This record gives sequence, C-alpha cells and structure tokens, in this order.
Amino acid sequence: MREQQLQSLLQEMTLEEKVAQLLQLAPAFFEGAGSEGQITGPLQGMGVSKEEVHAAGSVLGIGGAEEAIAIQEAHMRNHRLSIPLATMADVIHGYRTIFPVPLAMGCSWSPELVEQSAAIAAKEASVSGIHVTFSPMADLTRDPRWGRVMESTGEDPWLNSLYARAFVRGYQGGQDGDLSQDKHRLAACIKHFAAYGAAEGGRDYNTVDMSEWMRREFYMPAYLAALEEGCEMVMTAFNTVDGIPATGNRRLMREMLREEWGFDGVLISDWGAVKEMIPHGVATDERECAYKAIQAGVDIEMMSPCYIRHLQELVESGEVAESLVDEAVLRILKLKNRLGLFEQPHRGADPEAERRIVFSDEHRQAAQQLAAKSCVLLKNEDVLPLDKAHRVALIGPFAESHDVLGPWSCMGVREDAVTLSEGMAAIAASHGMLESVPCSLEHITEAEKERAIEAARRAEVIVLALGEGSEMSGEAGCRADIALPSAQLELLRKLKELGKPIVVVLFNGRPLDLRVVDEEADAILEAWYPGSNGGAAVAGLLYGLDNPSGKLVMSFPYAVGQVPVYYNCFNTGRPQNAPDAQERYVSQYLDIPNEPLFPFGYGLSYTTFQYAQATLSDERLSMDGKLELAVSVTNTGVLAGEEIVQLYIRDVVGEAVRPLRELKGYRKVKLQPGETCHVSFDITEDMLRYHHPDLQFGSDPGQFMAFVGPNSRDVQALAFILTP
Ligand code: IFM
Repeated sequence: MREQQLQSLLQEMTLEEKVAQLLQLAPAFFEGAGSEGQITGPLQGMGVSKEEVHAAGSVLGIGGAEEAIAIQEAHMRNHRLSIPLATMADVIHGYRTIFPVPLAMGCSWSPELVEQSAAIAAKEASVSGIHVTFSPMADLTRDPRWGRVMESTGEDPWLNSLYARAFVRGYQGGQDGDLSQDKHRLAACIKHFAAYGAAEGGRDYNTVDMSEWMRREFYMPAYLAALEEGCEMVMTAFNTVDGIPATGNRRLMREMLREEWGFDGVLISDWGAVKEMIPHGVATDERECAYKAIQAGVDIEMMSPCYIRHLQELVESGEVAESLVDEAVLRILKLKNRLGLFEQPHRGADPEAERRIVFSDEHRQAAQQLAAKSCVLLKNEDVLPLDKAHRVALIGPFAESHDVLGPWSCMGVREDAVTLSEGMAAIAASHGMLESVPCSLEHITEAEKERAIEAARRAEVIVLALGEGSEMSGEAGCRADIALPSAQLELLRKLKELGKPIVVVLFNGRPLDLRVVDEEADAILEAWYPGSNGGAAVAGLLYGLDNPSGKLVMSFPYAVGQVPVYYNCFNTGRPQNAPDAQERYVSQYLDIPNEPLFPFGYGLSYTTFQYAQATLSDERLSMDGKLELAVSVTNTGVLAGEEIVQLYIRDVVGEAVRPLRELKGYRKVKLQPGETCHVSFDITEDMLRYHHPDLQFGSDPGQFMAFVGPNSRDVQALAFILTP
C-alpha cells in the first residue's frame, strides 16, 4: 500500500476503530484461537467487548501457524475495514530452537553468531505466524540480583550496542532488508525504554533514579544503536525515570525518543504498564493513565484497558487532540504495511514450512555452536579437559535436568533439550566410564547424598552440575542472596572430603557469588542456560572436543554486598590503591576486597596465551589522526585455542569524571600451539568522546591511557596525549 492509501484508510476509520487499533490483547480473546474467544480467569478483568476485540490492532503470543491463520482469517472477516492484526511475541533467544540466554550469548563476543541466532529465530517464528518480536533487550545491567540480567548482554554500553545491532540485523534482515518481501524476518522491538536494568536493589519493577548524564553515558547507547540499525519498535519500561513512570514520561518518550532521536516507529507499553501508573501514584484512575500515556507518545497499550475505555471520551471532551490518536494509528498501519500484511495478512505463516523448518537439525547445530562459544571457563587447575579413559561421576541437580533452556524460552520444549548427561554419554559412554547421579535442586535428601558419594568413590573425577532452576531468574526472578542454594554447597563440601578432583559446571542466569565454589572446586565452567543442544555443547567442552573461549560480560561479585560492582566505574577521590592512599580513609570495604571475584572480560582457555610488550605508534594523537596500538599474542600451550584480545581506554582528566577503563575494541584470534599473531587497534579521537556536564558529546584534549589484555583487570597500560 502507498502512504496515500494508508491516509485514506485512516480517514475511513471511526474514532472507536482508531482507539481499538491501539489495543493489544492475548490470543485467548480472539475467534480462531484455541479458546475460541472465551475469556476466563484474570483476563476477564480486561472487560473488553466483542466489538472491541473485532477492531483490535494486535495480538500478543500465538501458538503456531495454524492458530495464527485461523485468528487472522476470523479477524479479517470481523473487522469492518479488514485491517489485519499484527502478531507479536517474546522471541528472545530462539523460537522453538532455543539458543543460550542473551547474557550467555554476550560472553561469546560474537555478534556474527548472535545475528545468525536472531535470523534463525525470525525464520522459525515467522513461519509460525509471528510478525514482531519483543527483542532485543538492550538494558545495561550491573546488578546480578535482578532476575532479568539473563536477558541482557551485560554491563558494557559499547558491547551492548554491538549486540543490539546484531540482533536487529538478524531479525529484520539489515538496513536494506524488506520485511514485506522477506517473510522469514521479523520486526524487532528494542526494550525497555529506558534504564529498566537499573532497578533499585535489583528488585524487578522498582524505582530507577539516575542523572541524565549517567543515563546518556551508560544506559542509552544500546537503545540508540538498535534504532540506528532500523529497529521498528520500542517498548516502554516498567520503572520510573526522573520520578515519572516511563510509560507516561513525556520528556523521555516524546521529547527524547521521538523529537531528539527522530524515532517515528511504534512505541508499545509493557504489559499492563499504562494502568500501573495508578499504583505508581501518578494517576488517579484509568482515564488519567490513558491521558498520560497518549501524551507521552505510547501507541499500543499492551494488556490493560485504559485506552479502549477512555481515549474516545478524552478526545470527544477535547482533552486529547484527535491528531495524537491519528498519529499513533498511522504508525501502526505503516508498520503493518512495511510487514506486507495488507497484501498478505498471513505473511509467512505456513504449517507445512513450520513442520519442516522449526527445530531443524541445522538450527540445533547453530544453537550448539553458539552455546559452546558462550561458556566461560572460570577456573581450571589441571583437571580439564577430561580424559575419556577416566571414570567420571556426574552428580547434581543439573546432571540429567532438561531445565537448561532458561527463562523466556518461547516455544522451546524442555523435554527436547539435550541434558548434560546425554551430551557426556554421547562422547564417553562407549568407554563405559560415566556414571550419572541426579539430585534435587534445593532440598537434597540424605539418600541422594549417599548415592552421590558412592558414585564419587568409584570415580576418578567428579563433575558436579550445579545451578539455579530457571524460575530463579527471569522476570520477577530476583534474589537477595546470589549464592547457590545451600544444599548444593553442602554437597560440594561433602564430595570435597573424598579428595578427588571436582569440576563444577554451572547452569544459571546471573553472575553468582561463587566464593565457596572457587575455594572447593578444581575447575569451574560457567555454562549458563545453554539452550536446546546445551548438554552436547557443554560435554564437548568438558572432553576437549572444543576449547572454551567465552569471556564474561558481567562481573561476578566477590560478595553480594559489593553489588553493583562493574569494571567501568569511576576512581573516587580516595582510591584504595593510590600511592599516597591511607590505610583507612579510602574507598573500600573493611571486610572484603573492592574487586569482583571474576572481572568483566575474564575467561580461561585450555591453552595459555602470552602477550608481548604492547606498543603505541606515537605518544600523541591529533584530532584527525590515529594511533596504532600493537601487541603480539602467542599460544604457549599445547592445544589450539581462541583468545579475545581487549582494548580499553581511560581519559585521565576530563571535564566530568571518567571510568577507570572503557572497552573500545577487541579482536578474536585463533592460534595453533606455538603460533604468534600480531594484533593491532587503531585509536582515533571519536573513541574518546563522552557526555560532558552540559550533555554535549565530545572529547577533551589531554592525557589518556590505553590498555590491552585478556580481560579488564590483567592489562598492560600505555600513555598517550590527545592534542587540540
Ligand atoms: O516483552 C515482555 C516484557 O519484556 C516484559 N513484560 C511482558 C512483555 C510481553 O510479554
């Protein structure tokens, strides 16, 4: 359809129909759904009429191609103007083939593989009748107590931006992609605008309060990057921003997102967030919620009835200009048009293709590849890789657990996921050297412990598969204590008494307090929730078919009391390790170190890499010039391996305080034993810019430090000057 036709369509719509276009409902409301539109339970509280459902604009979550087609067909019949529904869903880390959770994907430092995962998810979802995914989540995260850190790609704004772009490209097919032609792509929706990751105390939905400077420096870049990549939609956050819930925040949405950043796509509220302005205490009733949300620029109201009940009357009374409603409707119609829905309301939905494409071997292999790249080896005292000839006791709640998909696993089916024991058996069983002893997650019985100890006695190596059940993270999955459940730690201690080497494999969705595990285990492999083929990927790493190469994108605290602890922090006026630092009156804890247990960028390999002395091509960088930082890296071990060489920069003196280190680049190098490679980075002035106190973005001539190394802690430093 041409823009002119969309305008004409808008003219034909009654105010009632326009308001209904802004409503998003769950499939259960619609004719053609499994429930045949019979609303029961809490959904009844929505109180929407049949006519309103018939005119609604979009649907949230669909159970597959057949249901999508049935709902769309009925809707086209029921809608006076036959405006098709847009179907939206949370396709977060895969549709039916589940990839590792995004925090794990982040640890791959592989935007290419992440893009591929998003393209596969888009293909599976679109043949199953979905048009839009509520992904990527670009919320910067510093607090592992928050359950949704598993949905983020961590604590670095630059890396998060790379990933946000990669997800958007994978879903949408790139800037030159055409969603109306390419039916195997989805429209993406960046979320949660803004700063949802900074909820106070790591408690979901809680207050967020930070300076605009902090927000622009750290929290905004990844959302903006996604929009620059052409991301079609934005979702509001549940939290407040500057004391106003994001969903009703005019300054944030209308002034910043729309006017300053020029975003003209669809803005959707989070689930029920329009109505949540009442408990937030900024609206008396649903009517006021509707007023505030439309003024702020929210187009679609997800699963609360404020618009549908009150917007028409607000327009008729003159309190809300009809042009605001028209703009919102037009944006939705334009999105539907870009998706090609007016010509092909069923778009990619195709039951036959769904059967053929979804969960194919090829997709599962891609998921396995990304899972292997996402695991992070945190410790290894000569235990890994395992020798196939050794007798192994695989013990613990995750030994045979299928709960390895993680939260937000869309249409993933747990029972289909490869467990660790299946993965290990496939490699080692021919040798008859693997005994698997599962146990409970939180309440390990005496009998389970005895069985575990018996098996461990018979073994040469113990592999202990520990972690958090997937309901312990994800939305509303916050924890104040981020250690492993105490029964698991007790089991670890008991097994340690046997004096045998212990490898701990962790399945979880957040950085954990691993102090006890670090003390007791000989090796630790962080496997996260590795997805559909996770067990095979992890087993391949344990037996050395693959060499771990993942590096952390979120710091693992030494203790929860440090949280938030992140690498790109400021120095303070009394830094702990300054040459003139006093013993007491410095910024420190009296009882624990300041540093995390495992820092950002950290991860080991089965081989070792040696960094030679790094060099800078010059000591001075001009505004339009460039410096080259060069370093040779040698594989000094006996196995081939991949290293992620990281570049950080510090602005020593700025107009505003600057982080001690900021990631500005990385290179992945694959080296054979004994092989050396020369890695170089260009440093240019644009990498040194930041938001000044007046919010202007620019650099300050003066002193800088460049750092290069295998993680954010173990780096070599080189000084240079930016000349005016
Ligand atoms: O997309 C999600 C969001 O991230 C959290 N609340 C529900 C939405 C739709 O399922």
